[in-house]
Amino acid sequence: MRARDTDWEGVRLHVVTGKGGTGKTTVAAALALALSYNGGKVLLIEVEGRQGIARLFDCPPLPYAERKVGIGLGKDGRTGGDLYALAVDPEGALLDYLDMFYGLRHAGQALTRLGLVDFATTIAPGLSDVLRTGKATEAARRKAGGREVYDAVVMDAPPTGRIGRFLNVSVEVSGLAKVGPVRNHADTVARVIRSPQTAVHFVTTLEEMPIQETLDGLAELRSLGLQLGGIFINKVHPDGLAEADLKAAAEGRTNEAEIALGLKAAGLADAQTLAAGLAIELGEHARNVALQERERRELAAAGQPRYELPAITDGIDLGGLYRLAEVLRNQGAA
Ligand SMILES: Nc1ncnc2c1ncn2[C@@H]1O[C@H](COP(=O)(O)OP(=O)(O)OP(=O)(O)O)[C@@H](O)[C@H]1O
Ligand SMILES: [Mg+2]
Repeated sequence: MRARDTDWEGVRLHVVTGKGGTGKTTVAAALALALSYNGGKVLLIEVEGRQGIARLFDCPPLPYAERKVGIGLGKDGRTGGDLYALAVDPEGALLDYLDMFYGLRHAGQALTRLGLVDFATTIAPGLSDVLRTGKATEAARRKAGGREVYDAVVMDAPPTGRIGRFLNVSVEVSGLAKVGPVRNHADTVARVIRSPQTAVHFVTTLEEMPIQETLDGLAELRSLGLQLGGIFINKVHPDGLAEADLKAAAEGRTNEAEIALGLKAAGLADAQTLAAGLAIELGEHARNVALQERERRELAAAGQPRYELPAITDGIDLGGLYRLAEVLRNQGAA
């Protein structure tokens, strides 16, 4: 289907995590659009029942069912494949489970009122996790007529603080079910999550806390034996200046007189004061850029492929999402 290789050939399930607010939902959606390039059919799944995808694609709240929400990125003006989305909430996942293993959907609905869902989500969170990850692994492997239904599945996953537990399904349910259908289900899910078909991507911004969480998260997942994916550096602002000017500004060597001359030539009054103010701001900007360079090097040391997504001014709408998808595509992420 594709004309060239990407960094993630063979990966069918893309899990997207990162510190809260860094852009997990946005990046997961852009990645899904990029993966549906040239006709691929892709499923975007959210697992926390927050309807972030519906908001992003400006459609009604997603039911617990796969719905088409968009058209993928296309080549030369042609349209790409279909983008489907699914919102998995813990309650829906539990009802699904009762139906799947015991044919008890209706009983499940009654049990909801009796607090079974509370039981499963608070007392046995491992069960809720395995059901939600199970939905994604099932979709990634689903076949019809001898071929896979989806070319890729992208999961907007829990944040870094919870991702290890969330994906370590087999171990998390072991205290709950030693044998039986839940155990078997958990083992199947765990096999897919740990296979080369699954990669866990991290979204970060060039700030200290998200970077630290990314590095910690990578180390944790590595120790759990999961396949690490890419680092998606989001909301990157352009440097805007030549390297020599930045260096001079960072070291306080900005030529104020030269700026003042330029401002005066542009017809601005009080060019001297203005130039002094600008030089201070320039210095701050330059030091910031230098700091971000250090942060990029820290992320590079983790040894995973990196992608940079620009900060889109005036917010993310559908057009912005396609722009980010194009950027990811150009950088080889999809
Ligand atoms: N590249 C970008 N440029 C500009 N704004 C962005 C970009 N990426 C994300 N945003 C904005 O940042 C905010 C957070 O993004 P998003 O909801 O995707 O993050 P999240 O990690 O999923 O958050 P949460 O932890 O709450 O689920 C949103 O307002 C989103 O529109
Ligand atoms: Mg989100």
